[in-house]
Amino acid sequence: MSYVMIENLHKTYGASTVLSTIDMTIEKGEFVTLLGPSGCGKSTILRIIAGLTDATSGTVNIDGIDMQNVQPKNREIGMVFQSYALFPNMTVKENVAFGLKMKKIDPREIDEKVREMLAIVHLSDKGNAYPNELSGGQQQRVALARALIVRPKVLLLDEPLSALDAQIRKKLQSDLRSIQMELGITMILVTHDQEEAMAVSDKIFVMNKGGIAQRGTPTEIYTKPESEFIANFIGHYNVFTRAELEHMVGMKLPSECAKFAIRPEAIYFEAGAKNFHMSGIAIESVMSGNVIRTVFQSGERTFSVEQLHHRGHFVEIGKAYECYVEPEDVIELT
Ligand SMILES: Nc1ncnc2c1ncn2[C@@H]1O[C@H](COP(=O)(O)OP(=O)(O)OP(=O)(O)O)[C@@H](O)[C@H]1O
Ligand SMILES: [Mg+2]
Repeated sequence: MSYVMIENLHKTYGASTVLSTIDMTIEKGEFVTLLGPSGCGKSTILRIIAGLTDATSGTVNIDGIDMQNVQPKNREIGMVFQSYALFPNMTVKENVAFGLKMKKIDPREIDEKVREMLAIVHLSDKGNAYPNELSGGQQQRVALARALIVRPKVLLLDEPLSALDAQIRKKLQSDLRSIQMELGITMILVTHDQEEAMAVSDKIFVMNKGGIAQRGTPTEIYTKPESEFIANFIGHYNVFTRAELEHMVGMKLPSECAKFAIRPEAIYFEAGAKNFHMSGIAIESVMSGNVIRTVFQSGERTFSVEQLHHRGHFVEIGKAYECYVEPEDVIELT
């Protein structure tokens, strides 16, 4: 039996179905991510797990216990949201101590645990500061410490990093992952940032319109998208109909599939005996730091190619290029 088991979850609001047939299993100590576009139902799943919203039907089971009749406060679940929601009139230490105080733990033990927790989130020197004296990233670390100090069975994180700037977000992503591994806490993170999901997760559930579109490890999700939705949502896949691709490579394909996806970094400029060949005219080339992304026109279609940035742009706009892709990098979509 898995640590968290969600079976056949449905949620409707009046006539609109928000979640349908959600099945998820999560192992103890796993870090999983719910990834999907806005409105697909991610927060609703977290709220149902926490007991803040009732499911229309289906079950949530945590550590062998059916949560149906368990009050939210007795579920041993922690939550961290995008807005830090710290108590403004309490110091960092007092904020972090809050959950243990409620449990009437011995003050000396609380002190020790707070000190330990502040060290884990790298805020040992901020214990006496008030929330308004902290940066966004520091406030979010206090919120994390406050949720973790009671050692919840499951920690739910609803876009906790999305209000932070890119650099701090990357740092907190790796902090979050190492804290999770250190404490062995089961975490469910909600995000609509693909890179964030890939960077931190053991397992990703990609959601679309109230359902789970695909589940797997980050590598599986990235390298084997099963549908056009996943291919478009994850990375910048090129998606072609069979007719388009056959026209582009100038031959009949052995596959009967209707659609195909090719990663932009799987298209390159060296010929190879078995490779498909496609030619195109460079129409646009954008450098975004470490990657150069070039769009080629091929007949009616365009395709994009991404290369690591070595020494500036490698193509001339308006010039024709020969490009190649290995057959195993042409992914069949269902
Ligand atoms: N109390 C409610 N009454 C009616 N509809 C609701 C209610 N709460 C959520 N919804 C609808 O349920 C759907 C899913 O909402 P949810 O908040 O779970 O999405 P989300 O995936 O978390 O989106 P976002 O990334 O924007 O936070 C949305 O279409 C939303 O409008
Ligand atoms: Mg949400």
